[in-house]
Amino acid sequence: MSVSVTSFGTLDDQTPVSRVTLCNANGTSVSILDYGATLQSIVFAGKDILLGYDTIDGYVNANGSYMGATIGRFGNRIANGCFLLDGQKIQVSCNESARHCHLHGGDSGFDKKMWRYQIMCDEEEPAVSFSRTSPDGEENYPGNLQVTVTFTLHADDSLCLDYNATTDKNTVINLTNHSYFNLNGYDGEDILDTLLYVNADEITPVDEGLIPTGEFMPVEGTPFDYRSEKPIRDGVYGQHEQVKIAGGIDHNFVLSRQGREMRLAARAYSPNTDIQMECYTDLPGLQIYTGNFIDEQDGKSGIHWDRYDGFCLETQFFPDSVNQPAFPSVLLAAGDTFHSRTCFCLSQKDHVR
Ligand code: GLA
Repeated sequence: MSVSVTSFGTLDDQTPVSRVTLCNANGTSVSILDYGATLQSIVFAGKDILLGYDTIDGYVNANGSYMGATIGRFGNRIANGCFLLDGQKIQVSCNESARHCHLHGGDSGFDKKMWRYQIMCDEEEPAVSFSRTSPDGEENYPGNLQVTVTFTLHADDSLCLDYNATTDKNTVINLTNHSYFNLNGYDGEDILDTLLYVNADEITPVDEGLIPTGEFMPVEGTPFDYRSEKPIRDGVYGQHEQVKIAGGIDHNFVLSRQGREMRLAARAYSPNTDIQMECYTDLPGLQIYTGNFIDEQDGKSGIHWDRYDGFCLETQFFPDSVNQPAFPSVLLAAGDTFHSRTCFCLSQKDHVR
């Protein structure tokens, strides 16, 4: 196993950006940037299965795609960027102006921040922690939030993300990672034939602005029923009002679980490469996003991407939970410690070509 740090260029103000690469004994490696605590690559079985860029400018100019980034303080959408906390109205930025909502932490979300990193050298399982203090009032969120995300590459090719946070005032929190996976490799064909299983009986349907209506919709008999593995395409091209609203799948799946134990949330498998990825989490929701809004753009090695070239598995609390009393609470009380874990577990089925 090894850990290495390389330069990844500089920001416009000359701040140097570093890339930390963790490598295990199988030759699997993951690279994370200190800009946005961004997962930049996952190389497994000789393929890089993450969309992203070769340069820091690519990430800075990513134009709302949040490729690989750590998302905070509040992932997904907040209607009108507005909610009540302890009786006080909080107004955060409406960075998604077309829908007049707050998306993925707003104008100055965690994805655009520099993080401090600390490498943890373990004989078998290399890890690196990224930390930052989100100051009281950042984006108008109350409380100094100390947040750490630790990426650990295990010997069995699972990559675990551990999120920890504390605050000195009551606040709200919804942290996730916004990686776009393509199990055919970032330079392979699109994700539509990737087989997907999702451990969810319901989704939280959305209105035209992609804000949850507050209802729970059973997946039974809808394109959102991935309880038996099926190609991503079947959902994306399914005939359903909810699919039309989002131009594919861009929905919060209500994970079948009890409490906060780790459970299998989803499994994706590419018949082309035989690469399988399982996603485990202790969180209640999973935003499955099929890259419906990926702008045509050039990514790593100049590869040209378009929609459906990557899928995201964003483990999370439900979108707009701050305005939905029936959704699990996103309150982090002053003095409390938040912890959550998500693991992406990679394997390759044996086969004869
Ligand atoms: C999330 C949202 C999508 C989109 C992407 C970023 O997955 O749910 O609607 O905004 O982020 O492009």
